[in-house]
Amino acid sequence: MESTDIAGQETPVLESHGARIPALGFGTWELQGETAERMTAEALEVGYRHIDTAQAYGNEDRVGRAIESSDVSRDNIFLTTKIWPDSYSDFETAVDERLELLRTDRVDLLLLHWPRFRDTTLTRTVEALNRARRQDKTRHIGVSNFNTDQLTRAWAASEAPLVTNQVEYHPFLAQGPVLDAVRDRGMCLTAYSPLAHGEVPGNRVLESIGSDHGVSAAAVAIRWLIQQDDVAALPRTSAPDHCRDNFSALEIELDEEEMDRIAELARPDGRVIDPPGLAPEWD
Ligand SMILES: NC(=O)c1ccc[n+]([C@@H]2O[C@H](COP(=O)([O-])OP(=O)(O)OC[C@H]3O[C@@H](n4cnc5c(N)ncnc54)[C@H](OP(=O)(O)O)[C@@H]3O)[C@@H](O)[C@H]2O)c1
Repeated sequence: MESTDIAGQETPVLESHGARIPALGFGTWELQGETAERMTAEALEVGYRHIDTAQAYGNEDRVGRAIESSDVSRDNIFLTTKIWPDSYSDFETAVDERLELLRTDRVDLLLLHWPRFRDTTLTRTVEALNRARRQDKTRHIGVSNFNTDQLTRAWAASEAPLVTNQVEYHPFLAQGPVLDAVRDRGMCLTAYSPLAHGEVPGNRVLESIGSDHGVSAAAVAIRWLIQQDDVAALPRTSAPDHCRDNFSALEIELDEEEMDRIAELARPDGRVIDPPGLAPEWD
């Protein structure tokens, strides 16, 4: 894993089929209006160089404004957005809308948000994703919430390599088969809901490890994720102090025994995001 010096911190960068993905990103789900704009600006100020949004979040306009007004050059920001399944059958229109809202000619990564194909098929949708890349509307392409069987099919249907599968991953949810599937293809796993949608802060094991390092339970969970090979993480917050707190994950290193203790927190019912009608049969 390489590193680039950002705001005085060594930020790990994942390499996946030519994509250089900062391992620590900033998630924007549920950040709306002025909060989305202010927190994206805050994250860039703190040193995050990877921003995650989506068509479904309804905040791309605000995220785009924050990026445009930032002192950080657009070239130094890894920007991801996702296309919602309802738009798979009119993919090109949806992509053009994303670029307009985000005030950019091209995103760095474009993802299929969920593996749900109603008026189209997986193959046709992966072809549309590749077309967006050929048209230079995105540098890289990938998927989100695909199980290993769907990933196998998407990989086979894709002309360009898929660089990531963005899935839920945190200390309470093991992701062994999904990790193996991405690593076998030289891809990375982008961990969403790295704080288990707010359940991580307050966990006694994580807090105790954090107090040994002078950081919070949230920072420990983020560190545990990005210290694993080929894993990026996208914490989200509406609070500037939490934004800095989460970035402090870059300041610590967990030893093998701590990494193992955290892995033992995984539970069969640890998944927090499982929307009916969208979620596949999970691995
Ligand atoms: N591809 C997908 O289908 C998908 C699905 C879910 C999420 N995502 C992506 O992953 C990102 C993160 O996931 P998420 O939004 O579910 O949530 P998350 O990052 O797991 O957790 C967010 C929650 O943790 C709290 N929090 C954050 N930092 C904290 C800290 N240092 N101390 C205490 N509390 C803290 C936040 O509250 P405060 O605001 O008060 O800090 C919020 O309630 C999303 O924003 C999105 O970009 C993608």
